[in-house]
Amino acid sequence: MASQPLSDRVLARDPRAIARGISLIEDETPEGALLVGRIFAHTGRAYLVGITGPPGAGKSTLVDRLISNLRKEGKTVGVLAVDPTSPFSGGAILGDRIRMQVHAEDSGVFIRSMATRGHLGGLARTTAEAAIVLDAAGYDVVIIETVGVGQDEVDIVRMADVSVVTLVPGTGDEVQALKAGIMEIADIFVVNKSDREGADRTVASIEVMLATDEAMGEGWRPPVLRTEATTGRGIDELLAMIERFREQSSDTLGSRRRARGEWRLREILSRRFMQHLEHNVLAPGEFGQWLDRISARETDPYSAAAEMTSGVFLTPDVISAAVQVGGSSPAGGRVSTCGKLDEATTSFPQVDTRPLSSHPPTHGADTRLTIDHVGIAVSDVDASLKFFTGVLGLTSGETEDIKSQNTRVRFIDTGDAKLELVESLAPDSAIGKYIDKRGPGLHHVALRVPDIQAAMARVVAAGVRMIDQVPRQGAHGSLIAFVHPGDTHGVLVELKQLAVAPEGH
Ligand code: CO
Repeated sequence: MASQPLSDRVLARDPRAIARGISLIEDETPEGALLVGRIFAHTGRAYLVGITGPPGAGKSTLVDRLISNLRKEGKTVGVLAVDPTSPFSGGAILGDRIRMQVHAEDSGVFIRSMATRGHLGGLARTTAEAAIVLDAAGYDVVIIETVGVGQDEVDIVRMADVSVVTLVPGTGDEVQALKAGIMEIADIFVVNKSDREGADRTVASIEVMLATDEAMGEGWRPPVLRTEATTGRGIDELLAMIERFREQSSDTLGSRRRARGEWRLREILSRRFMQHLEHNVLAPGEFGQWLDRISARETDPYSAAAEMTSGVFLTPDVISAAVQVGGSSPAGGRVSTCGKLDEATTSFPQVDTRPLSSHPPTHGADTRLTIDHVGIAVSDVDASLKFFTGVLGLTSGETEDIKSQNTRVRFIDTGDAKLELVESLAPDSAIGKYIDKRGPGLHHVALRVPDIQAAMARVVAAGVRMIDQVPRQGAHGSLIAFVHPGDTHGVLVELKQLAVAPEGH
């Protein structure tokens, strides 16, 4: 057990914690998602500079120059070197090792390389989340450097507050960049290696493109700068131009970041829906069968998608229906019996397949499950207290609103286990729909586990489905996740991990 949570160590700018955090995000682990959740409130202060361009444009040298100049100004710098074409990451690229050595002694610089893991569109998202880690760690400037001028690079650079497109003379890259749509995202053009022959022509051709771009409004007109990264010429001008852009775009920065947030949220939602569909809805191999049918022209993609998703999403209605009929599958039998997680998208470290509850001696740790509470759906928490505290004479804690679930809860003390009174704050909340269907009453049993990630991993490894693929925030800072009632004999089981450091208790 680490003495300090990873999030605290990231916020304290511990380089090992930052590296670990980025790895968790890169591997798309639930811990990575949790980390983002814990540090997100501390972000928004770093200025994100995106730099892209074709291979051989001298971006690494350019970035090194920028780092040195920014350090002279007393600014701290985090760098994400992204190579969508490389299978390596985590600093395995030779060039990055050399760069890291150069800045190894400087605690104000953190350089990390990232590469694709074969997830469509995933690299831009993981890059954005890695930038969140560097932002939370307090780096003043975060440089996102990526190689290439394709769609992946456009998506990655879109994650930045300012986009710098780097070209080199005489390679005809401008044309390619235009095709890939990178001209539209450029805030600043840099013609690097500008001592080379053809630099004037390259500058001129960019200017022509900008002049003929009718879509460009009145606002910022991207300047075309010349640099020689090897000698450092033009680097001060580039930094000054970035600063000028920052000042001039300060009123649009909010909307730019909001658009970024929207893109990320939609990306995460799409991924969650796909995971849900593949893990909980479709039978193993079913996705491939649909592809076969489409290939054979037996059906079309739209009809296939409609049928694959028809009425099988786990809505609160479906869940309560599953509870009602005593735990049969919510989709009339077409749900897979095995909720095996795709290791590539959701990996838990070291899945332990022993039963959840174990008695000592198991390396000393007593992990016997205890009932934390029994959840009771009530129409009105306050009104129900008349019975639970008034008539029964039980004591209770404070009422707490759980915004993420649109519920109001209050825990009643009864010795070891508690009663949880849950009221719905919105008609479409899970509890609201449950009460609509079945009326108030017993709702769920919560078991306290020492480590919710490990508990979820064991449940899933046993072929039992989770409603929550990732733990969510419960009352008093706890982490909770519900097991699918279809696999638990109709009992809605909540796994609960108490907050590490309970607030206010
Ligand atoms: Co509960």
